Amino acid sequence: MAQSSSPGAEATAAARFAHVIGWGKAVPEKVMTNDDIAAFVETNDDWIFTRTGIRQRYIAHEAESTATLAYNAARQALEVADILPTDLDLIIVATSTAENIFPSTASQVQDWLNASEAGAFDLSAACSGFVYGLQLAADSIRAGSINAALVIGAETMSRIIDWTDRSTCILFGDGAGAVILRASDAPGGVLSSVLRSDGAGADLLAIPSVGSIDAKDSPAGANGNQFYKISMAGGEVFKFATRVVSESIEQACRLAQVKVEDIDLVIPHQANRRILQAAARKLGIDITKFMSNVEHYGNTSAASIPIALCEAIEQRRINNRDHIALVGFGGGLAWASMIIRWGVPKPSEQHGSLIKRQQRHVQYRIARLRRLRRRVARRLQSSSF
Ligand code: UT7
Repeated sequence: MAQSSSPGAEATAAARFAHVIGWGKAVPEKVMTNDDIAAFVETNDDWIFTRTGIRQRYIAHEAESTATLAYNAARQALEVADILPTDLDLIIVATSTAENIFPSTASQVQDWLNASEAGAFDLSAACSGFVYGLQLAADSIRAGSINAALVIGAETMSRIIDWTDRSTCILFGDGAGAVILRASDAPGGVLSSVLRSDGAGADLLAIPSVGSIDAKDSPAGANGNQFYKISMAGGEVFKFATRVVSESIEQACRLAQVKVEDIDLVIPHQANRRILQAAARKLGIDITKFMSNVEHYGNTSAASIPIALCEAIEQRRINNRDHIALVGFGGGLAWASMIIRWGVPKPSEQHGSLIKRQQRHVQYRIARLRRLRRRVARRLQSSSF
């Protein structure tokens, strides 16, 4: 699936564009270093860093979940955008580590934010999920069906890792990143995207789980791996990744009518620094134009692109009118690229934001009180039976 907002349409009066107006990230407090992992599986800091670029990752504690990390990132994004949760029309959470098949993580976040006007759903496209979600939200905005969307990538990969498997347990970490897209008549924003899948590679990277096939008597998933644990054919996935990152960025650039050399910053899925180096070589782009923070976070799957985007903004690596390329790749197999032309005046630059901030806090408090009231009502109901 390839989409383009057709830059030629900028002249028409009715044109709508989807701009990023808010962003936020959240990671657990607990850091796990390579040396910490070397204490329980046969590995070492030198091997992990040389092969992957990773030095440490964040690991959720018991009370944290994919939903709590998503909620914290979402609140930050609402602060930056300076809009109210009730202004949101749509919430998408891209994740492979939801607590439930349903209710969705997105519905939990919607309730906690008091985003009472928003539809909400989870999206399963593994490490490409965030770009898939952003594309769906941007298209809905450009079509005129919605005005504002919250797109989150959130994961607690630590819960689906086999901690005895040194080939995978060194790679992943937990975290969440969120972005708010809003309609604007200012040209730019999401210019193009390319979404792709090759299900023939399903066995190369998977988390088998009990779904429509009644697996109660099976000890393992279809690929022979444990249920609810990640398995990966690392070498094969590595080759696939280096191929699709460059190919799909080139395709998205063509659709956006932007030259590859005019891309100011690539924000790729953070799986392995060597993949980024190979992709940069293939594209003929200097590696300094590739945002990389895998060293500090490891691979946070669907969360890695929005976390890297937030860090790029914090490090002032993104300026108005810059062309940004996002690229995700992983389980499915699935991959996705997107070109964004950055920049729209933030609402907070036009209005005072103190009142909105207070309104947001009131909404979060209302949501908490409503949850408390529901819990009490359920307890009273069950005690009366
Ligand atoms: O987010 C989804 C997308 N995921 C990716 O893009 C990941 C893509 N794959 C990779 O990043 C790399 O394949 C890995 C980092 C997972 C592995 O790196 P590699 O260079 O492909 O190593 P390898 O699997 O070929 O293993 C090389 C050697 C093996 O030993 P022998 O057979 O050569 O004696 C492994 O047993 O390294 C050994 N090894 C380790 N040694 C120390 C594997 N894991 C470890 C380890 N510590 N943690």
